[in-house]
Amino acid sequence: MLVGGQGTRLRPLTLGVPKPLLPTAGVPFLAHQLARARAFGVRRVVFATSYRAEMFRPTFGDGEAFGLSLTYVYEEEPLGTGGAIRNAARALTCGPDAPVLVLNGDILSGHDIGEQVRRHVAARAAVTLHLTEVDDPSRFGCVPTDADGRVTAFLEKTPNPVTNRINAGCYVFTRSVIDTIPEGRVVSVERETFPGLIEAGALVLGYATRSYWLDVGTPEAFVQGSRDLVLGRLASPALPAPPGELIVLPGAEVSPEAKVGGGSVVGAGAKVEAGAAVTGSVLGDGCLIAAGATVTDSVVGRGARIAEGVVLRDAVIGDDAEVGPGNELIRGVRVWPGVVLPERAVRFSSDA
Ligand code: GDD
Ligand code: MG
Repeated sequence: MLVGGQGTRLRPLTLGVPKPLLPTAGVPFLAHQLARARAFGVRRVVFATSYRAEMFRPTFGDGEAFGLSLTYVYEEEPLGTGGAIRNAARALTCGPDAPVLVLNGDILSGHDIGEQVRRHVAARAAVTLHLTEVDDPSRFGCVPTDADGRVTAFLEKTPNPVTNRINAGCYVFTRSVIDTIPEGRVVSVERETFPGLIEAGALVLGYATRSYWLDVGTPEAFVQGSRDLVLGRLASPALPAPPGELIVLPGAEVSPEAKVGGGSVVGAGAKVEAGAAVTGSVLGDGCLIAAGATVTDSVVGRGARIAEGVVLRDAVIGDDAEVGPGNELIRGVRVWPGVVLPERAVRFSSDA
């Protein structure tokens, strides 16, 4: 599992916590992927860590809670996606012909992993890529295939995508193919390994599905992912409560006169006061949403304090930040951890 990226697009959320560990629908993001992988029969997972590597083991331990055996491999310098796979392969125990599942650590996917592995094995492919369709393929790896599903090119972040089909970030490699990735240097599977394999005539197969899929690499997508999990749009065995309009974690206090829903999660020990309205948002542990505040599609960090009447929409509020009364933070605004916004410091319109 590739979990070494810096998560720059999710700052400030990822300043202290790597993207795969961000609390999502009440548990660390990766818990959803791990639980799904387990449900498809995966038993052993190797984490390829780099950024904030030391935080993974205390979170997941040896994996017993998931019925998995977890191993942690560390990159001194980030080795890129391909270098990370090669480096993590040191911890593999399987033979050269065995299929090895590789997952990006920031994906929510409802696809049938078991079926992807079966197709890979049946076709004796070198690599089998899960593919999905998106509206803007230029932000992803664009992956055209022929009529038999054979991948004909791999175009990472191309300004001129030839299809809406993209790399969904879940691969099955034949083990011996991983061993051909150069060791000890930065390698991108997307820009080097996959194009190289295709060029060399190896069988790179696509497994296209229309199942639920999301890359949570941006704040909007991250909030959407948490919301979809809470609402049950993607079933996750790791969800800490049954799916529904909201999940309230232990010790949280939600006033009966507050309106909280739309797939929101209220963190442990957080408080939502009377008259507040929280929709589709992620509220961190111990945060405060004061009376009459409106929080929509936003992330409120651990211990952050949102004062009376504040409006947040598509906003990211860092841990322990304070947003004073009369502020209106919308359209992707990000407040850095610990920052204190005084009363009426920011508004997006002049009429109030
Ligand atoms: N260990 C390690 N070392 N992991 C890394 C490194 C590294 O140097 N660089 C990136 N990763 C991990 C990230 O943590 C993430 O889980 C995964 O590799 C992909 O990196 P992203 O930074 O999220 O890439 P992306 O979202 O821009 O693009 C990738 O994912 C798309 C699907 O979401 C590519 O694989 C695209 O082709 C793909 O379409
Ligand atoms: Mg990503």
